[in-house]
Amino acid sequence: KTKVGVLISGRGSNMQALLDACREEDFPAEIALVISNKAGAQGLDRAREAGVPAEFVDHTLFEAREAFEKAIDEKLREAGVKLVCLAGFMRILTPWFIDRWKDKLINIHPSLLPAFKGVSTHERAIESGVRIHGCTVHFVRPEMDDGPIIGQAAVPVMPGDDADTLARRVLEAEHRLYPACLKLVVEGKARVTAERVRMDPSTACDPDRR
Ligand code: GAR
Repeated sequence: KTKVGVLISGRGSNMQALLDACREEDFPAEIALVISNKAGAQGLDRAREAGVPAEFVDHTLFEAREAFEKAIDEKLREAGVKLVCLAGFMRILTPWFIDRWKDKLINIHPSLLPAFKGVSTHERAIESGVRIHGCTVHFVRPEMDDGPIIGQAAVPVMPGDDADTLARRVLEAEHRLYPACLKLVVEGKARVTAERVRMDPSTACDPDRR
């Protein structure tokens, strides 16, 4: 099984979805290490409960962003990690780290990119009046919330939605989408060519519909 590292900053519900998928016998990946840059992250407890090594790396102890990233990079490599999943990791990564893990670093973002990059995506979706919202899993590039798209899942914006009800609907979709996309990447079915993901023809176009 391919060893995966997960970087988190909080709740870790997407990490949990990945953990659950990895527990299935025929799933091609296993989570070797979870790292949080926040001490009390609920995700750290969840990982430990599942018997997965989970570490807190305090970014405030490092003067430079790269020094923090070097510490993380070392831990990931020591654990034999071949692919890194960002799952609610709320720190901007430098081009150094991103280049080092080029095409081996994926992220989930709570919008249908390229719409609503950045934070408060659900508030902004409601504010803008879109009727369809969702989430995206993509390879990470140095520009924020940018990079070749692996998969997306759409959810309707319902009349009466507020940011919380919409966030909940999107989160359910995230929990299905992320493991499906991880599987495609690990199996080599979603690969980057010319900065677009080329999907293996044997694969349904929408990983969420598999
Ligand atoms: C998720 O909604 C994820 O898409 C989002 O943070 C949440 C983390 O929840 N990520 C970002 O906004 C990244 N810019 P979780 O900790 O329960 O997985």
